[in-house]
Amino acid sequence: MAAVGTVPARENAGKGAISIRNVTKIYDPEGVNVLAVDDCSLEIAAGEVCMIVGPSGCGKTTLLSAIAGFHSITFGEIYLDGELLCGPGKPLADQGADRVVVFQNGALFPWMSLADNVAYGPTVQGRLNKTQAREKALDMLAEAGLADVGDKFPGEVSSGMARRAEIVRALINDPKVLLLDEPYRAMDALTKSIMHEALLEMYDRTKVTIFFITHDLEESIFLGDRVVVMTTRPCRTKKIVEVNIPRPRDYHILSSEEFRLLVDEANEAVHEEAIKAFEAGERELA
Ligand SMILES: Nc1ncnc2c1ncn2[C@@H]1O[C@H](COP(=O)(O)OP(=O)(O)OP(=O)(O)O)[C@@H](O)[C@H]1O
Ligand SMILES: [Mg+2]
Repeated sequence: MAAVGTVPARENAGKGAISIRNVTKIYDPEGVNVLAVDDCSLEIAAGEVCMIVGPSGCGKTTLLSAIAGFHSITFGEIYLDGELLCGPGKPLADQGADRVVVFQNGALFPWMSLADNVAYGPTVQGRLNKTQAREKALDMLAEAGLADVGDKFPGEVSSGMARRAEIVRALINDPKVLLLDEPYRAMDALTKSIMHEALLEMYDRTKVTIFFITHDLEESIFLGDRVVVMTTRPCRTKKIVEVNIPRPRDYHILSSEEFRLLVDEANEAVHEEAIKAFEAGERELA
């Protein structure tokens, strides 16, 4: 067992490769077929920060939900480290502690302190006793710059602090994959930039595989190893932008020409798809 006061090394380091193979998702509410994802394939390496961008309604959350096990897929297969999550005969992936999701709207329990929120998962799952879980939670919060607020309630700290605590809560179980759906969408630019640096610091320590959906192209280049631009609905991969900017990264790269060129490259592809989405909407209205 790890000594008190240290966060143990990750058991799942080097794991978390996701393979999305020819995935199609058709929603069928009351018989009206909605083709959300069509023959989409994507390989994400273990420990990669993979950013997903694309027009609104193109199917990004649908794909994330399939990986998380919230929604079934209609055709195709999704693998995690070579093991089938969902596919023929098993359209819905099991929900497991190896994949954790952080959504846009915070999900901390308001009646628990930040430390208790973070310690909650391992305690209820019986992985750690209460004392161990609390110690680990406080250590991890401290690593995330939240040393002094472990005993505060979510309503007593800033939204940025609460968001950071939420990521810590997601990471305490040493997941293979962190699935983030526009986690910083509603934040002002300054808070967002602090969130980015905090997330990158946590990533540099854990090297967890990150599947991160965003509409913010600067965010996607700043954080990502690759930015996957999706087509307008139905969702497929349109273009992959490789971000070969070395880590650790800080905000100085935002003003570099290399950074601007990558944002432009992603923007061109997204813009093309957004126009298609807009025109398709116009056709539907006509
Ligand atoms: N449960 C559902 N039942 C029927 N249709 C759905 C359902 N969930 C999503 N859709 C439809 O599937 C398509 C893709 O939705 P999805 O939420 O995956 O898009 P998105 O890319 O995440 O959009 P946004 O960027 O706005 O969050 C949309 O047309 C949406 O209306
Ligand atoms: Mg979405």
